[in-house]
Amino acid sequence: MTTWLRELPKAELHLHIEGTLEPELMFALADRNGVTLPYDSVEAVRAAYDFEDLPSFLNLYYQGMGVLHTQADFFDLAMAYFARAREDGVAHVELSFDPQAHLVRGVPLEAPFEGLLAACREADSRYGISSALIMSFLRDRDPVEALEVFEQAAPWHSMIDAVGLDSAERDHPPGRFAKVFARARALGIPGVAHAGEEGSAAYIREAWETLEVCRIDHGVRCLEDADLVAMLRERQIPLTVCPLSNVKLKVTPTLTEHPLPALREAGLNVTLNSDDPAYFGGGMLDNYVACHDAFGWTRDDFIDMTRNAVQAAFMAEERREALL
Ligand code: ADE
Ligand code: ZN
Repeated sequence: MTTWLRELPKAELHLHIEGTLEPELMFALADRNGVTLPYDSVEAVRAAYDFEDLPSFLNLYYQGMGVLHTQADFFDLAMAYFARAREDGVAHVELSFDPQAHLVRGVPLEAPFEGLLAACREADSRYGISSALIMSFLRDRDPVEALEVFEQAAPWHSMIDAVGLDSAERDHPPGRFAKVFARARALGIPGVAHAGEEGSAAYIREAWETLEVCRIDHGVRCLEDADLVAMLRERQIPLTVCPLSNVKLKVTPTLTEHPLPALREAGLNVTLNSDDPAYFGGGMLDNYVACHDAFGWTRDDFIDMTRNAVQAAFMAEERREALL
């Protein structure tokens, strides 16, 4: 089954490129940029990846990305990810990135934008992997800053496929970011948002109503609200679910207890994704294999979820038809 799952052309819609930073590359970039890491070995970094919840992960995630400074760093980061994605049989990737987390460290927008866009072009020509770019805003920072950063990114607006919303969810309701999402929409840029990961089902409804997003990242807590489930089913709003991430961040105690089967039984539009593979113990293929082992899903189940992802992807219609 693993071989078959590897060969199934998969689309990854929920991936934080900063969350693909493996400890080996973290050390190489720290050396390159003269950054001192609070660890003395790759093993020590991996040993620190034992999270209590989303905030405890985010602390290490923001610390880890401190080694990323130049356009070349972002290019190398993304190319290392694309090489692994190719081994996993990933055909299409939507990379989210957090420009504010770099700006606050004095890294200008050019570095992530130009580095990531160059890597996306290279992944297409070297591996035949198509991609999309999602500019994400940090929900635990000021929404006014998000709008300013979005305006500063004007030179790249035509290269952005969507805007997103991530970081610490609890007590940071999505509605505060309605302005920047409306501004993006006015420019023809759609929105996606993390909701219902550690936050309640109410945040999923709020993201849908106030940000007018076309997909929900995670969304697993929707099951707490039957009316919301009915709405998500009727509209077939895609949920980008990240099984191994949810276990690592204790959204669910074990994978066997994950609500994925219930979400699918409720008729929801479910896709499988890796979120932050360097931190959560596996990429797309590991997530697929883990779901096979936990839920006994058949080939048809995986084909179904892969089709959901291709249909929900920001990609040219020609490419979509080729992958369906
Ligand atoms: N940023 C990176 N990974 C994230 C996650 N799983 N949830 C919220 N923000 C994130
Ligand atoms: Zn995420």
